[in-house]
Amino acid sequence: MGPLASRTWEHAVVTGGSGFVGSHLCSALIAAGTAVTCVDDFSTGRPANVEHLVGRPGFTLQEANVSRPFTVERPPDLVLHLASPASPADYLRLPLHTLEAGSLGTRNALELAHRSEARFLLASTSEVYGDPQEHPQNERYWGHVNPVGPRSVYDEAKRFGEAFTTAHGTALGTDTCVVRLFNTYGPRMRGHDGRAVPTFIRQALAGDPLTVTGDGLQTRSLCYVDDTVAGILAAAAHGMPGPVNLGNPAELTMLDLARWIIELTGSDSEIGFVERPTDDPAVRCPDITLARDKLQWEPQVAAEEGLRRTIDWFRAHPGN
Ligand SMILES: NC(=O)c1ccc[n+]([C@@H]2O[C@H](COP(=O)([O-])OP(=O)(O)OC[C@H]3O[C@@H](n4cnc5c(N)ncnc54)[C@H](O)[C@@H]3O)[C@@H](O)[C@H]2O)c1
Repeated sequence: MGPLASRTWEHAVVTGGSGFVGSHLCSALIAAGTAVTCVDDFSTGRPANVEHLVGRPGFTLQEANVSRPFTVERPPDLVLHLASPASPADYLRLPLHTLEAGSLGTRNALELAHRSEARFLLASTSEVYGDPQEHPQNERYWGHVNPVGPRSVYDEAKRFGEAFTTAHGTALGTDTCVVRLFNTYGPRMRGHDGRAVPTFIRQALAGDPLTVTGDGLQTRSLCYVDDTVAGILAAAAHGMPGPVNLGNPAELTMLDLARWIIELTGSDSEIGFVERPTDDPAVRCPDITLARDKLQWEPQVAAEEGLRRTIDWFRAHPGN
């Protein structure tokens, strides 16, 4: 099933556009003929992620911290707010920056959309469900988040961002949408960003032990980045306020993921077990009924194919 919605945009602002997901989103928009202003402070992203777009007609790279008021040269008709550290290693290293990106950054991006009469989309996260007590998670579940735990700087910032976005829509009439992204993987992830897929691939290619946390029986649902980007664009085009889950319901344990990556890389690495982080969710799986029904969207790329593409990219970018 391919996404239903196709709507063309003149000019999109993508905050966090030189990060992992944002850079793929910028590429998709430019390919569709949309001018893109990528606004990024490079705190966790890299200019190299969008260097293939620099010089292309319609693409502008603007360095700015969106937690401070910012302007762009021409008004957008679409604002996609992705700016935020996203991996636990990053947001634990940048706790205040993360809280600000989710709160002040969301406010500034919303204000840009409001004064430009643009559609606004917040890239929220499955982390708003915390360590969930309902499984799989649908959008009506309110979540189970520790408000003062180490992960709260991310989880609560995103929850606040969702509240701010929703209130902007109801109080000021801003055309808003919240999407909740589940674990996404693919080329351009950083090998040292601490997330399972890039960590395991880096370790497997180096012949190092794969560091599985806890007993490895905790589950995640991995969505290939092209599918996530298609879902974001479908939600933007549809006009729904959300929240809507975007993720791949195929769930697997971290131990199985590690074994699979060893097999796909042909590595002789072993598996080692390390301590599991505080408040690490035990399970994570999206119910994507809403996205299927409203957006005609569901993931197209099977995990084996997505992992192969990601491994190929890591092989071609040693030292990443
Ligand atoms: N990748 C996933 O699995 C996933 C899952 C759920 C939600 N998300 C959300 O998607 C978005 C992108 O995630 P990602 O995986 O690409 O992470 P990433 O770290 O690769 O990208 C984030 C980008 O935002 C930029 N940024 C951070 N703070 C900023 C600020 N104050 N001003 C301007 N730029 C800033 C970073 O430099 C980086 O380029 C994030 O909002 C994240 O919460 C991602």
